[in-house]
Amino acid sequence: MKTGINTIQRDDLPVHHWYRFVLSYPPHLVRQFTGRFDLGAGDRLLDPFCGTGTTLVEAKLLGIPGVGCDAHPLAVLVSSVKTNFDLEPDALRKVLRRTVAAAQKTMSRHNLAAMSMETAFIRDEGDTGYRLNPEEEKILPTGFMSERPLLRLLILRDEIERQAKEGEIRDFFFVALCHVIARGAGNFAFGPEIYRTKAKEDYDVLGHFARQADLMISELEALQRDGLGGASCEVHADDARELRSITEPVTAVITSPPYPNEKDYTRTTRVESLLLKLFSDRADLRGVKESLLRSNTRNVFVNDRDGDEVAGFASIRAVCEAIENRRMELGKTSGFERLYHKVVAHYFGGMRRHFRALHSRTAAGAKLAYVVGDQLSFLMVPVRTAALLSEVAAAEGFDTCGIELWRERVGTKVRNSATNAKTVRVAEEILILEKRS
Ligand SMILES: C[S@@+](CC[C@H](N)C(=O)[O-])C[C@H]1O[C@@H](n2cnc3c(N)ncnc32)[C@H](O)[C@@H]1O
Repeated sequence: MKTGINTIQRDDLPVHHWYRFVLSYPPHLVRQFTGRFDLGAGDRLLDPFCGTGTTLVEAKLLGIPGVGCDAHPLAVLVSSVKTNFDLEPDALRKVLRRTVAAAQKTMSRHNLAAMSMETAFIRDEGDTGYRLNPEEEKILPTGFMSERPLLRLLILRDEIERQAKEGEIRDFFFVALCHVIARGAGNFAFGPEIYRTKAKEDYDVLGHFARQADLMISELEALQRDGLGGASCEVHADDARELRSITEPVTAVITSPPYPNEKDYTRTTRVESLLLKLFSDRADLRGVKESLLRSNTRNVFVNDRDGDEVAGFASIRAVCEAIENRRMELGKTSGFERLYHKVVAHYFGGMRRHFRALHSRTAAGAKLAYVVGDQLSFLMVPVRTAALLSEVAAAEGFDTCGIELWRERVGTKVRNSATNAKTVRVAEEILILEKRS
């Protein structure tokens, strides 16, 4: 295995790999900061943008009480499952066996042979009754799922719901299903942005699911045997700009919020979210987008006001003006391009609301680490995310202890007449803050 700075280390695979966002920061980065902040059983570590739970899983493994929130329902589900070490392995195995057997039967009834025995595709399965409804189809990105893998996934999802009566057990298997969708059943991949791949005629959904779920159960069993993961962990569906669910003070924060970079978290997780019925039509999708920090042009809405929060910051205003001036210079007139400068203002304004909400929920002297990337996504105008966030945090009572380089990504190639093509390096940094006393 490659061991780059962002690569998950082999020993860290258990639990973390159950389902994880591409480019989530690695567990060893979290450990670096739990060590530096000297966190232990008497602390309470918050990840307000917990995503797929890297900070929370590490906290649990290290015996540090943790709490996390995310505004995206899939992130909440995944983080909840990855931090629940209490499920009974034997009970899970029973449900797994029943689910696989029942799904196999239903698949055969609909002429979907077990993949290992399959020699030829049987084309005409007629109307199986398993399908997305028209509203769900409208928000499924074109070409992301082929018919037969989709049919297998829908059968399996229904069987999980039928066999796993308890919510926590059902969610455990749903995470295994998400893994199968994101790691092969869909016609998409990440590089690191999501892109469409060649359409698959079929996919061994059940085989991959059975192996993944079995591995997850074995890992859980090993953790329980080793007595790991005793610390408490709560996961909430919440907007980090409000933090209504955080009622007890936290002593530390280790997190990676979105960056202002056109990445749309509702698109990178769309197929999984649809199949798990976390949203089922355009209105639901819009609701999720509205609850997220404004970080891309696809989640900016006319009534947004977060940008007003940073109107008094000359540095942020200068970046927004530079983006808008560049757009006009280049004669770019699409609706999305006209929104670029607004995204940046709303992003930092939303982060200001986050720091404000956080202030009353942090103990005196609380230490915070924010992993964020500089950006060039908006017409190549540099957005120094960590430096600007440091100013925003200061306005809400958090002092900067340092901004450290974590890694550099190779950015877009810029063409200009003198050099023809040039590779730009873009920094990802860690903003380290402390609550002002
Ligand atoms: C960079 S990802 C975090 C990745 C995470 N470190 C992990 O281990 O997977 C940022 C997360 O912030 C969440 N998010 C965006 N806006 C939010 C908001 N207003 N409140 C809470 N979470 C939000 C997104 O849904 C996404 O899961």
